Amino acid sequence: MRRTEALRSLVRETRLEPGQLIDPLFVCPGEGVRREIGSMPGVFQLSVDEAVKEAEEAARLGLGGLLLFGLPAEKDSEGSGAWDEAGIVQTALRALKPVSRSLVLIADVCLCEYTSHGHCGVIERHGEEFTVENDASLELLARTAVSLARAGADMVAPSDMMDGRVGRMRAALDEGGLEETPILSYASKFASAFYGPFREAADSAPQFGDRRSYQMDGANAREAMREIELDLAEGADMILMKPGMPYLDVLRMARDRFEVPLGVYQVSGEYSMLQAAFARGWLEPERAMLESLVGMRRAGADFIVTYFAKAAGRVL
Ligand code: PBG
Repeated sequence: MRRTEALRSLVRETRLEPGQLIDPLFVCPGEGVRREIGSMPGVFQLSVDEAVKEAEEAARLGLGGLLLFGLPAEKDSEGSGAWDEAGIVQTALRALKPVSRSLVLIADVCLCEYTSHGHCGVIERHGEEFTVENDASLELLARTAVSLARAGADMVAPSDMMDGRVGRMRAALDEGGLEETPILSYASKFASAFYGPFREAADSAPQFGDRRSYQMDGANAREAMREIELDLAEGADMILMKPGMPYLDVLRMARDRFEVPLGVYQVSGEYSMLQAAFARGWLEPERAMLESLVGMRRAGADFIVTYFAKAAGRVL
């Protein structure tokens, strides 16, 4: 059954299609800006006009959608740029809407790109110590989700990992007449070293401490199932799990347990690691890229957020 490509194709159990891939975009102020991220070759911070070109290419390739992150001109302790009607992602959404009818526009909802301290919620400092104020953060996150949906997001994707945010966001969206906007919840998000390059791309590194008091401990798979259950009970429509490769067992466990659409995020560090090996000629780029993506589909992902979206779209 393996002798020819025709035979292999006939018996192939797992398919990978461009429409299953989501391309993350980092949008920044300015015009004509296309700044490559040092640790992520081929990934750029883009001004809105350049993001529009990127969206046109994504649409031509038949990709499933775009996931938007913003680099605001200014940050403050609350992260008010996140819900600013004239904010960077809101502006990008309005510009992208007409050129991307075939793409699902997903807005990441978090405060870390907008807060001066780089944490995903409101911070209370106690001398050297600090706590992330879960409940005080919910209102700000809900406000952000509403603002992004109003600006044209087809879906909002909370990535902050505060407890209760999905329920609060659902209520705020419904109240704002946005009951048609689905929530893609990053329910199972582990505190991972593999987010390192993203924090350079999105300028969102915590200025002190780390995210281990709100993102999950990498050793816990059962707890991830509990997180997913809670988010679904609060009204999440789809679930996003991340990182990908180091957590494929957790993805499989979720696939076997839940019937909702499941996405996985092949995060920045996974991409950088592969790119570093490609640059040295240590791995065959096309084959290694596709193998990493098929692995996530086989483990149970319906769709994949990946910095390889365009590259994979070109060869599929
Ligand atoms: C925002 C957010 C992060 C990622 C997605 N949304 C960073 C983090 O939690 O530190 C990581 C994505 C990647 O590494 O590619 N909270």
